[in-house]
Amino acid sequence: MAIERIIDTSAHNNDTEEQQVEVTLRPGSFDEYIGQDRLKSNLRLSIDAARKRGEPIDHVLLYGPPGLGKTTMATVIANEMRTNIRITAGSAIERAGDLASILTNLTDGDVLFIDEIHRLGRAVEEVLYSAMEDFKLDIMIGKGPAARSVRLDLPKFTVIGATTRTGALTAPLRDRFGIIHRLEFYTPSEISRIIERASNILDSKIDHQAAEMLSTRARLTPRIANRLLKRVRDYADVNGDGIIDMATTEAALNLLEVDELGLDPGDRNLINRIIDNYGDNPVGLNTIAALTGDEATTIEEFYEPYLLQIGFIERTPRGRRVTAKAYKHVGKTQSVAKN
Ligand SMILES: Nc1ncnc2c1ncn2[C@@H]1O[C@H](COP(=O)(O)OP(=O)(O)OP(=O)(O)O)[C@@H](O)[C@H]1O
Ligand SMILES: [Mg+2]
Repeated sequence: MAIERIIDTSAHNNDTEEQQVEVTLRPGSFDEYIGQDRLKSNLRLSIDAARKRGEPIDHVLLYGPPGLGKTTMATVIANEMRTNIRITAGSAIERAGDLASILTNLTDGDVLFIDEIHRLGRAVEEVLYSAMEDFKLDIMIGKGPAARSVRLDLPKFTVIGATTRTGALTAPLRDRFGIIHRLEFYTPSEISRIIERASNILDSKIDHQAAEMLSTRARLTPRIANRLLKRVRDYADVNGDGIIDMATTEAALNLLEVDELGLDPGDRNLINRIIDNYGDNPVGLNTIAALTGDEATTIEEFYEPYLLQIGFIERTPRGRRVTAKAYKHVGKTQSVAKN
């Protein structure tokens, strides 16, 4: 994306300050990790059982929109298992040999976190299958007619895969995971607790009401909550006494053009474009992308999950449809009533 949007759920990887803040704010244990209760209790059970048996836990696949805490959860799992975590990404493992060298460097019980696991190439994936299933590494030695395949034993390790697009994962890879879990959007009250925790760590003062107001505008996403908090804090430092209250929060959010539902001009533009061109008829993803000038995957991964969550867009077999709720929000009236 050319312009960095404040409510952009993706990590701003070129922003080192943001990266540092993410690391400082990252919860280290289940107790610090707010929300996702169902996931936490499932994992607690698996971890307790595995530790009793003295084995690593089953491979875990975490999926869901960006910024909901997949990477964080992977590090929490490793901490709770009291093991090391090795972090890599699907796009970083280009050849089967890259994966082989990562795998042979693991020790018993290690967690191997593979971010964007849907981006692994086919050849790499195939090496991963037997590694995950039997803890064996099949490699070819030599070339041509003299080539032979050898099996090496690997340490018992756990793969934690993360993806924003579970649909992009091949079935055989998905089948290798014993624990598959979708991260859900947070509730406003959970986001509010995340904001209060973060402001404590950042040593800034936010009153409860201001935290609540911020929590309704953070797209139910911890990454955005933390990002908005930082911006509001800057505003309070410059324009007030550093204390974040309702008035500063409101003023800062207005300046950022983030509205009461957490939508920014980009979202409102998307909704307006669809309404102006197609009304409430279903439109395909590529058409929406053409209307806003974004990539289809950007619409699918960044805009759409939240708009679906708040019921502004619905998915139909023939495409996405803008709902009555969205019409109302942008101050437009539906021309023909439909059921
Ligand atoms: N449950 C939580 N409680 C408190 N803070 C959280 C929680 N989940 C995430 N965060 C905060 O949100 C930030 C983003 O989380 P994280 O990087 O884990 O998201 P992600 O799902 O891996 O995103 P991406 O898909 O972009 O990789 C973290 O730095 C962390 O501070
Ligand atoms: Mg991540």
